[in-house]
Amino acid sequence: MSEEKTLVVPPMLVAELDELTSHYPDKRAALIPMLHRFQEELGGWISPEIMEWCAEYLDMEPVEVYGVASFYPMFHMRPRGEHVVSVCHNVSCDLRGAREILARVCEVTGCRPGGTSQDGRFTVLGVECQGACTAAPMLDLDGVYHENLELDDVDRILGGVE
Ligand code: FES
Repeated sequence: MSEEKTLVVPPMLVAELDELTSHYPDKRAALIPMLHRFQEELGGWISPEIMEWCAEYLDMEPVEVYGVASFYPMFHMRPRGEHVVSVCHNVSCDLRGAREILARVCEVTGCRPGGTSQDGRFTVLGVECQGACTAAPMLDLDGVYHENLELDDVDRILGGVE
């Protein structure tokens, strides 16, 4: 017999979502900010239970929520590490050494691109342009950009992570 998972949403978050959706003529328009808040508050990723809860709350089908959540790379569809390292691999960064930067990030963290280290500390992602092309190559560590990278910078940046 399988155990059914139920999502317990903290009452403060529900109150915040009630307030958030009240600002939209169609509450479904609040889906993206809702997903951000869930990801911030409940484990750093968008679980199937979160998508089902959002769908019911917004009178949507779960597949519609999935379609939005899976479209945007800022939403994590699987559990992630404690720290997320996103290395841009688009054209400007690629021409200025992004492949070597990504390889060094993987070496230092023990992750494959798209994977999470065995100790759960890091998730490493290859991502599209982050709008910092003039300072290529770049990486984003937990929302903070590091630009004009040299290989040694990767060791320094990741070595400073608590
Ligand atoms: S190509 Fe890397 S930030 Fe634009």
